[in-house]
Amino acid sequence: MNMNMAKKIDFLTPKEIVAELDKYVIGQDKAKKSVAIALRTRFRRNNVTSDIIDDIVPKNILLIGPTGVGKTEIARRIAKLSDSPFIKVEASKFTEVGYMGRDVESMIRDLTEIAFISEKAKETQNVIDKAKENAEEMLLDILVPRPPKMPRKVAAVAVETNSIDKTRDKFRMMFKEGKLSERMVEIEIKASGRSPLPIIEIFSQGGLDDMSHDIKDMFSNIFPKQKKLEKVKVSEAYEILVREESERLVDTNKVIKNAIEKLENSGLIFIDEIDKIASREKSYGPDVSREGVQRDLLPIIEGSNVMTKYGIVRTDHILFIAAGAFHVSKPSDLIPELQGRFPIRVEMESLSKKDFIRILKEPKSALIKQYEELLKTENVLLEFNDDGIERIAEIAEEVNLKTENIGARRLQTVLEKVMEDISFDAPFKSSKKVCIDAKYVNDKLKSIVKDEDLSRYIL
Ligand SMILES: Nc1ncnc2c1ncn2[C@@H]1O[C@H](COP(=O)(O)OP(=O)(O)OP(=O)(O)O)[C@@H](O)[C@H]1O
Ligand SMILES: [Mg+2]
Repeated sequence: MNMNMAKKIDFLTPKEIVAELDKYVIGQDKAKKSVAIALRTRFRRNNVTSDIIDDIVPKNILLIGPTGVGKTEIARRIAKLSDSPFIKVEASKFTEVGYMGRDVESMIRDLTEIAFISEKAKETQNVIDKAKENAEEMLLDILVPRPPKMPRKVAAVAVETNSIDKTRDKFRMMFKEGKLSERMVEIEIKASGRSPLPIIEIFSQGGLDDMSHDIKDMFSNIFPKQKKLEKVKVSEAYEILVREESERLVDTNKVIKNAIEKLENSGLIFIDEIDKIASREKSYGPDVSREGVQRDLLPIIEGSNVMTKYGIVRTDHILFIAAGAFHVSKPSDLIPELQGRFPIRVEMESLSKKDFIRILKEPKSALIKQYEELLKTENVLLEFNDDGIERIAEIAEEVNLKTENIGARRLQTVLEKVMEDISFDAPFKSSKKVCIDAKYVNDKLKSIVKDEDLSRYIL
C-alpha cells in the first residue's frame, strides 16, 4: 500500500497532497498548503519544456512555530509519501566539532546515497524476474549437474542430455512445490558478501561516504572477494543466488545516472532546528560557530557543485524546507543572506484543546489507537469515551499553560500517566474491558494536576 502511495504523491495535486497530510497532521493548514505548493512546483518545473527551466529555482520554505506543533511531523510524512530523494538533518549537528559534528556538505552526500539506494532498489525490481530465473537454473546445475562437455559419441550424448533434462524438469517441479527446501546443497558464496568489513564502520560514522575511493579499494584488496563453498539449505541457496544474480544484473552506471538526475531535480532536504544556528555572536570554545554553519549552508542552498562518491551533484534545484521553534532567537537573527534563501515563511499555530482532541483521535496512527492496539495484545479492550478524551486534552492544555508549552508532546506524557495502572496490571487471563471516561481520567490525574510542582515533574 505504501509503495502505491509513494509512487503517486509526486503526481498529486496540491489539494491531494494536503489531503494526504491531513491523515496524519491536524490543523497547520498554512504550512501544509505551502509545502504542497512547493512540491507541486517541482513537478511542474520538471515538465517545463522551455529552456528557462534552468532559471526556475525552488522557493525554499521556513516553518516557524513553537515546539511540538507538527513541524517535524510534516517532514516525516512528506518523506514517507514522497518518492523524491529526501533527507532530514538537524542543523545543530553541524555546530559540533569532531566525531559527532559533520561538515555541511555531508547532507548532500547522504542524500546522494539515499537516492542511489532507492534507484538501485527500483532497478533491482526490474531485473528480479530474470535473476530468479537464472538462480533457478544455477540451483538445478548444482542439484543435477550437467556432465562436463567431452568429446563423445554424438548419439550417447544426445541420450544423456535427454535424460538429464528430464531429471532437471522433475527437480524443477519439486523445487517449485517446495519439496526440496530442506535438502542441503553446497554452493559458492562470496565471502565478502556475508561478512562485511567491520573495520570500516569504526572509521566513519557517516558510512563509507566519508572515505575516499582509494582507501576503500585498499581494503577490498586486503580482503579480496573470496569465494568459499558452504553447505546450506536449498531454500537459502536460492535466496543467496537470487541476491547475487540481481546484484550482477543491475546496471550500476545507469542507477547512478538516474539517482543523480532525480536528486538534482527533485531532491528535498529538511533542515530541522534551524533556530539553533540562528545567532550571530561569535562562539567560544571548540564548537564550530553557528554563523560559520550558516555561511557553509549558503552555497549549498544557493546552488553549487558537491563532490560525492557517485560524482558531482549540483544543488541548484534541491528544495530546502527549514524549521525551527525560534523561542530564543528570531528568524531575523539568521544572517541576512540566509534569510533571503527562504522566501516563503510559514508560521505554525500553537495547538489548543480542540486540536488535541483531534490529535488524540484522528490521525492514522493516533496515540489512542496505539494504546488500543498495544493493550489488545494483553487481553485489555480499551474504550475511550468522548468525555474522557476531552478531559485528557483539557489537562494537556492546562499543564502546557501552567508549566511549559510543549505542544502535542504533552499528550504523550498525560496519556501515559492515565494508562499507567492498566499498563502495569496487564496482562489478564480473560478479556477485560476498561472504559476511559472523564471520571477515570480524573481519578488517575486529579491529584497531580492540582499540584503545579508535581505536574511539572510528572506530566
Ligand atoms: N498538528 C499535529 N497533528 C498531529 N500530531 C501532532 C501535531 N503536532 C504535533 N503532533 C505530535 O506531537 C509530537 C511532536 O511533534 P513534532 O515532532 O512535529 O514537533 P515539532 O513541531 O517538530 O517540535 P520541535 O520544535 O520541538 O522540534 C509528534 O509525535 C506528533 O505526532
Ligand atoms: Mg522538530
